[in-house]
Amino acid sequence: MNPGFSTELFKHKTVAITGAGTGIGKATATLFAELGATVCAHWGRSTHHTKPHANIHGMCADFTTREGHQAFVEFVSDHSHALDVLINNAGTMVGRFPADTLRDADYEHIVSLNQESVVRITRGLIPALTAGAQANGSAAIVNTVSISASTGGSPGSSIYSATKAFVSTYTKALARELAPAQIRANALSPGVIDTDFHQRYSSTEKLEKTRQQIPLQRLGTANDCAPAFVFLASDSLAGYITGQTLEINGGQF
Ligand SMILES: NC(=O)c1ccc[n+]([C@@H]2O[C@H](COP(=O)([O-])OP(=O)(O)OC[C@H]3O[C@@H](n4cnc5c(N)ncnc54)[C@H](OP(=O)(O)O)[C@@H]3O)[C@@H](O)[C@H]2O)c1
Repeated sequence: MNPGFSTELFKHKTVAITGAGTGIGKATATLFAELGATVCAHWGRSTHHTKPHANIHGMCADFTTREGHQAFVEFVSDHSHALDVLINNAGTMVGRFPADTLRDADYEHIVSLNQESVVRITRGLIPALTAGAQANGSAAIVNTVSISASTGGSPGSSIYSATKAFVSTYTKALARELAPAQIRANALSPGVIDTDFHQRYSSTEKLEKTRQQIPLQRLGTANDCAPAFVFLASDSLAGYITGQTLEINGGQF
């Protein structure tokens, strides 16, 4: 058996993940915990979280503010001097905003949550990732982007889609800049994943129409995404992969 698939894959490793209270982030945090990691998890607005795995330690912060970004950096830094994996996953469309009527406040909200949080949290945790790479040989960043970074998304999602394109390019740049420190950086790009995200921003009819156009003929699930994060984060599985975007969309794109 490939030792990379051991259920102790992340034993003695520390993983920080944002947006871990629901959907893709929750499934991913749980899987890392099951694989032995100590998980520093961020939760957003939801207060009705089920009791997480014993290995998961959580905090709440609003990422529409700088203080929220900084609070997560301090939470992770206080918890562990050395960090092995950072997953910037928190994000959402916030709403549908036609380009001609977009208000400054909506623009700033979307950018702070989906773009600035990634920059500030990554900047704040590079020292811990560097310490992790020095202690264990390597460290990894995985950023959640979106199929809409490539397609432009559906009407009313222009700023959200553009923030995901920003994070996609930022990830490639991080990969080059951090390679000498043995920190890999990759992005995971979901297509249409059946989470609360679509309960908020898509109708049942729209989702069914999309489903019919997906070659695998189904919407994705959070559990389709979680193993892909583990793959990209694992040095034994993906140690020579950096600067890449992994599309996970049933063949849609
Ligand atoms: N579902 C899809 O089809 C799809 C497609 C492409 C990309 N994505 C990306 O995948 C990631 C996870 O989304 P998901 O599908 O799992 O949807 P989700 O369940 O709605 O998760 C979004 C996460 O972001 C957090 N969040 C939202 N607003 C926040 C705020 N103001 N401050 C702090 N955290 C906030 C949420 O926390 P709370 O709920 O606790 O506030 C939640 O954990 C996001 O980056 C999303 O853009 C999803």
